[in-house]
Amino acid sequence: MSKLKIGIVISTTRATRFGHKPAEWVKTIAAERNDIAVEIVDLRDYPMPFFDEVASNAWVPTTNEVAQRWQKKVAEFDGFIFVTAEYNHGIPAVLKNALDYAYPEWNKKAAALVGYGAVGGSRAVEQLRLIAAELQLATIRTGVYIQGADFMAALKDGKDLKEITHLQQGVRDMFDQLAWWTAALKTARQQDVLTKAA
Ligand SMILES: Cc1cc2nc3c(=O)[nH]c(=O)nc-3n(C[C@H](O)[C@H](O)[C@H](O)COP(=O)(O)O)c2cc1C
Repeated sequence: MSKLKIGIVISTTRATRFGHKPAEWVKTIAAERNDIAVEIVDLRDYPMPFFDEVASNAWVPTTNEVAQRWQKKVAEFDGFIFVTAEYNHGIPAVLKNALDYAYPEWNKKAAALVGYGAVGGSRAVEQLRLIAAELQLATIRTGVYIQGADFMAALKDGKDLKEITHLQQGVRDMFDQLAWWTAALKTARQQDVLTKAA
């Protein structure tokens, strides 16, 4: 099987955001593996309006050109890692909007979740699991939670995440699970295509 394509989605876009730091850190750990090809997907590059289409693209093609470009980008990947902040105990609105702007492109793929915040973004991560279920996006069990003193050291003191070594094994475990589910679902999607063609 060719390398699995994994998109690492940065969930926040504000000028002084922290979110790109955990995304880049996760990407460096991915480089230890030879079965996946990872790419950071920055929502800043897809400045979509608040959802303003007649329907989800599950039913009606999207007219907004940035959203069309977003859908094409999402379609390129076999799996995803959402690196998410927690805004008032939920996922950032810009991430929800981006999730809503695609549908078939998420379907029958796998996703891993990396949270950061006072409690590791865990409340946002759990919300994201519910949303993912509706998108037919299978979230894996092992998440990574950058929390408490670790989060504050990285956020306020600028500590490099790679120096917080006790978090690294969790990222490796996450990649093990994500690769398994991503490969299994890719095989199943390819089988779907063969069955339909027969
Ligand atoms: C609107 C807003 C709401 C927030 N709510 C929470 C929260 O519910 N829980 C939490 O742990 N941190 C919360 N924070 C603090 C964030 O964890 C922190 O600002 C983090 O850096 C946000 O991610 P970002 O820098 O990538 O935007 C909030 C921050 C903002 C801007």
